[in-house]
Amino acid sequence: GGTPTTATLHADTPGPTYDARIFTQFAEHLGNGIYGGLWVGNDKSIPNTNGFRNDVVAALRELKVPVIRWPGGCFADEYHWREGIGPQGKRPVKINTNWGGVTEPNAVGTHEYFELLRQVGAQAYISGNVGNGTAREMAEWVEYITSPAGSLADERARNGHKEPWALPLLGIGNELWGCGGNMRPEYAADETRRFGTFIKAPEGTRVLKIASGANAGDYTWTDTIMRLAGDQLDGLSLHYYTVPGGGWPPRVPAVGFDEHSWAETLAGARRMDELITRHSAVMDKYDPAKRVFLAVDEWGTWYAQDPGSHPGFLRQQNSLRDALVASTTLDIFARHADRVRLSAIAQMVNVLQAMVLTEGRKMVLTPTYHVFMMYRPWQDATVLPIDIVTPWYAKDEFTMPAVSGSAVRDKAGAVHVALSNRDPNQANTVTVKLAGLAATSASGQVLTAAAMDAHNTFAAPDAVRPAPFNAATIQNGVLNVTLPPKSVVVLDLR
Ligand code: AHR
Repeated sequence: GGTPTTATLHADTPGPTYDARIFTQFAEHLGNGIYGGLWVGNDKSIPNTNGFRNDVVAALRELKVPVIRWPGGCFADEYHWREGIGPQGKRPVKINTNWGGVTEPNAVGTHEYFELLRQVGAQAYISGNVGNGTAREMAEWVEYITSPAGSLADERARNGHKEPWALPLLGIGNELWGCGGNMRPEYAADETRRFGTFIKAPEGTRVLKIASGANAGDYTWTDTIMRLAGDQLDGLSLHYYTVPGGGWPPRVPAVGFDEHSWAETLAGARRMDELITRHSAVMDKYDPAKRVFLAVDEWGTWYAQDPGSHPGFLRQQNSLRDALVASTTLDIFARHADRVRLSAIAQMVNVLQAMVLTEGRKMVLTPTYHVFMMYRPWQDATVLPIDIVTPWYAKDEFTMPAVSGSAVRDKAGAVHVALSNRDPNQANTVTVKLAGLAATSASGQVLTAAAMDAHNTFAAPDAVRPAPFNAATIQNGVLNVTLPPKSVVVLDLR
């Protein structure tokens, strides 16, 4: 129904690479993100390999998770790596002061993290402790992980791992403007320079250094870090959460919301485009060649915690609304792939906009998981620009283009197009002119459901899941698709 959407897919003018690291996941010591979600240790009642749940690891392998960021978040700037190595029973039990004041057994430490990476097939992105750690402690952690020789390498071998691990990415602290130390940007820039100085990678390897970046629209932070420390960095982070409802703590429920909240949430997610545009423009002043990448290493929806759950555990259900937030955001990253070369949705398991939820032995995949599955071909593919002219969807004070999209050409030459209809009421007919592409058929998958807040539960784990989509045709170089209301469609063009 309504006005049709017209678009042009520019296969004739390919853009930058859509970096696989944009699909990085985040695992913080927070709630049941690690303990219970990924790690069950010696609990024989839940099938596991070396302590990590087989069901969760298998789901993450399927997703082709390229990188896992760990151990925080706010947890990172109070984390002391030496407390998480050596015999499990001898590790100190601490209090997780950021997240619920619960005990932190230190059962998952450096060796366990690298075991998780091995099982999932992902690379390391560690956030080091600047807040209440020392430059020496961070440097020694990197040496312990990466060095082929020396006392720290010997200690690593005694703890069970002779070979060094690869550490391609290191965060120099997390949210230094807040939980990482409440620093002014000038001070954070100096600390970033000082800590970074002592990060030494063994011959022939590199550890990319990512500075703690701005909170949402804090452009002064980005300007100051780039001006004072940009020359020392490989990446600069940005954190932006979609928090409907206004005010803190988040109060909008994850399910059982109305259309006002649907529209507010998607409008909030769209703000990412403006944030990246403006942070990137600030970075251009100091780094016009875009050598320093923007790492949007925390993003996603943040609602009220699920009823009955611990407020400090940030556990929330995940609905079709989150699926549309995910596709909207992944499309925005396509438009900024020249600068955004890493992002991490928060957080992988049981926390905020999660891929999977667990409860005891049970696990469900979320609608967001399914969107990430559908976008797997985007990993390291070439962005093909797509211009979309679409009617606006409006609800109360929130307005937005109804249709979002992005397209890529993968290494094998296949073209993939994603189109999302954010209008929860109207179907949308899209015609896409294929410039420089001789495809003749289109097929793929659709993710949709009857209700805006449709979601998967342990009782009904497949309420929202992708279905085959065959309602797309190509005639005379034009792709025709009718998008159902509130849907994400991903097509392979042949
Ligand atoms: O993801 C939850 C928290 O949000 C992280 O610990 C912190 O970095 C951010 O404020």
